[in-house]
Amino acid sequence: MLKILSNPAQIVTVDTKGKNYKRGVELSDIGVITGHSVVVENGLIKDIIPNSSVSKISSEEIISTDDKIVLPGLVECHTHSVFAGSRSDEFRMRLQGKSYEEIAAAGGGINSTVKAVRSSSGGDLFNLAESRVWNFIKQGVTALEIKSGYGLDFDNEIKILNVINKLKSLFPIDVISTFLGAHTFPPEFRSNRKGYLELLTKKMIPYVAENKLAEFCDGFCESTAFSSDEIGEIFSAASSNGLRLKLHTEQFNNIGGLETAVSRNAVSVDHLEVITNGDIGKVASSDTTAVLLPGVSFFLGYDYAPARSLIDSGAIVALATDFNPGSSHINNINMIMCLAALNMKLSIEEIISAYTINAAKAVCREDRIGSIEIGKKADFAVFDAREYSDIIYNAGNNLNIMTIKNGEIIYKSPSLD
Ligand code: NIG
Ligand code: FE
Repeated sequence: MLKILSNPAQIVTVDTKGKNYKRGVELSDIGVITGHSVVVENGLIKDIIPNSSVSKISSEEIISTDDKIVLPGLVECHTHSVFAGSRSDEFRMRLQGKSYEEIAAAGGGINSTVKAVRSSSGGDLFNLAESRVWNFIKQGVTALEIKSGYGLDFDNEIKILNVINKLKSLFPIDVISTFLGAHTFPPEFRSNRKGYLELLTKKMIPYVAENKLAEFCDGFCESTAFSSDEIGEIFSAASSNGLRLKLHTEQFNNIGGLETAVSRNAVSVDHLEVITNGDIGKVASSDTTAVLLPGVSFFLGYDYAPARSLIDSGAIVALATDFNPGSSHINNINMIMCLAALNMKLSIEEIISAYTINAAKAVCREDRIGSIEIGKKADFAVFDAREYSDIIYNAGNNLNIMTIKNGEIIYKSPSLD
């Protein structure tokens, strides 16, 4: 039976004409339609019809989106939402002048969250993550990527991945699992890097892949974490076990991670705050999505990734929160969009493309989600706004009032009752 999303002020389709991603100037074209309604059948988008034709259709349900703004469901493509503990002490240290890298080198940073995660049960981690997932859904998210990476030993990485997979089975959105065992070296392997690499490549990656606990293998290529050669070894094991590749790279230092990732057709390279001009061309001429994380630059107080140059050179650019307890304790998508607009100089249209279709590409789902095109999943975020720029112009405010996944309303603002 049919459902109708009726009479919105604007449908922001982010139409790609079947291409399923946007690079360069294409990000500016978001296919806004007025005077139309969306027809849904069996959880998929069936048609976009003039409002005058709605009365001719016999539908099972009219979802009133009168005078609202309909977008594709947002895709949050880079988070570390399963963690325990707080790093507010490190936040204070940073306010007093210590750097994020200094804190990490002194045993804090990622390893401080590892300590908290290792002493938490799977049940505790699930309870903490549950409200974080709901928080994203309330903002219009219908697909959410979550990484492991705070366990850093076999049992604790599997514990996190099991939590992510439980979230996947219990929540009505797409939860996408990424294995980030190569986040950093855990304390017990600090002076035995080979030992940890062996654990990753011979035991953890094969187990994760065989048990389908993750789709992607991610790593952190950085002078305080893994070298590009080490990432190469990890990627070889991941690829031969059927995992797709992602990489945190060029965040603080430029040590060859980008080259390694792009040459192996990684699905995404994430961060890129210190990418060189020469390397911008390498990403731009590849199919690898550049996932930019302005929340990290804001939270740590350092340079933003050169988003303008990346887009102007033709890269496929996506945006995400990087929600985590250390470098971006920010789960507010509106804030990320505002930072992208004001500090990265992206246009409203580019930001919408980056948070929908290109974010879908960063999790290999661009053929099913990320734009309002016939045959794609009926995933929508409905905003209480006059026109789509209000979504970002209302700095600090979540204007999403309804989240629809596979044609079902999964969140409705109490203001609608
Ligand atoms: O994406 N860069 C490495 N990993 C995370 C930070 C995690 C943390 O500080 O806990 C990031 O920024
Ligand atoms: Fe991250």
